[in-house]
Amino acid sequence: MSSVNKGDLRAAATLLAASNRPAALTGAGMSAESGISTFRGADGGLWSRWSPEELATPDAFRKDKGLVWGWYVWRMGVVAQARPNAGHRALAALAERWPEFAIVTQNVDNLHERAGSARVSHLHGGLYEHRCFACARPHSGFEVPADAADNPQLRLQPPRCRHCGGYIRPGVVWFGEQLPEAPWRQSTAWLKNCDLLLVIGTSAVVQPAASLAGLAHRHGAKVILINPEATEHSALADVHLKAGAAEVLPLLLDQANNS
Ligand code: OAD
Repeated sequence: MSSVNKGDLRAAATLLAASNRPAALTGAGMSAESGISTFRGADGGLWSRWSPEELATPDAFRKDKGLVWGWYVWRMGVVAQARPNAGHRALAALAERWPEFAIVTQNVDNLHERAGSARVSHLHGGLYEHRCFACARPHSGFEVPADAADNPQLRLQPPRCRHCGGYIRPGVVWFGEQLPEAPWRQSTAWLKNCDLLLVIGTSAVVQPAASLAGLAHRHGAKVILINPEATEHSALADVHLKAGAAEVLPLLLDQANNS
């Protein structure tokens, strides 16, 4: 039995069916039903088990490279074992009807791409986009150990840069760092241009990513919120579907295609 309110689902499906240029803004909740922890979930989000100051800042990496690299390698292992869920697959299927359908994601996993979505902009970088901490050149060829997913306490020295000998870091945005410029430009262009925004699985507390829902709204987009909880984005939402992404997105797509 579905937990989604039928009236809300009908209202959201009507908005989606009428849209010419839908887009999505996704966060960690998008991948929750794939078994990847969110950051701020009451029931064991990553930032309730670990301190971002010790793991997700340039200073943390300078202080203890083995701890930081090991933690990210654990997350690389978890994502490698995870599968895209029915929500990722429904978003990929939206591109059959709206070929320009674009996804702006805060997620550093690759589940949108693995589900088949082609137009994805990663605001916070990617877990597998390694680069040198010293000279910033990209680094390829790192093999995630087969048992990495089993060991959240993994400590591992990072590989060294082939050009300058510096330490390799994960290509994710850490606290205190700027967002990468090209994805930011791409994301703002997409979201200014959309006429409907699906805001899925984000707590709306991390800026500037959270501001992008407001940007789309100011440019005239309708907003459908998909999140079991209320967030700062609730005030912008034309419809709030209070359920998990993997449950509600296939229902939404199905109903929009049949309306
Ligand atoms: P958060 O962990 O802050 O928020 C996850 C949101 O997903 C919450 O609002 C949950 O209610 C919701 N949620 C949980 N399960 C869900 C489900 N099955 N379907 C839909 N929604 C669900 O994640 P983000 O908002 O993505 O930064 O966090 C933003 C940034 O903070 C991340 O990108 C990360 C973190 O520090 C970097 O890595 C730079």
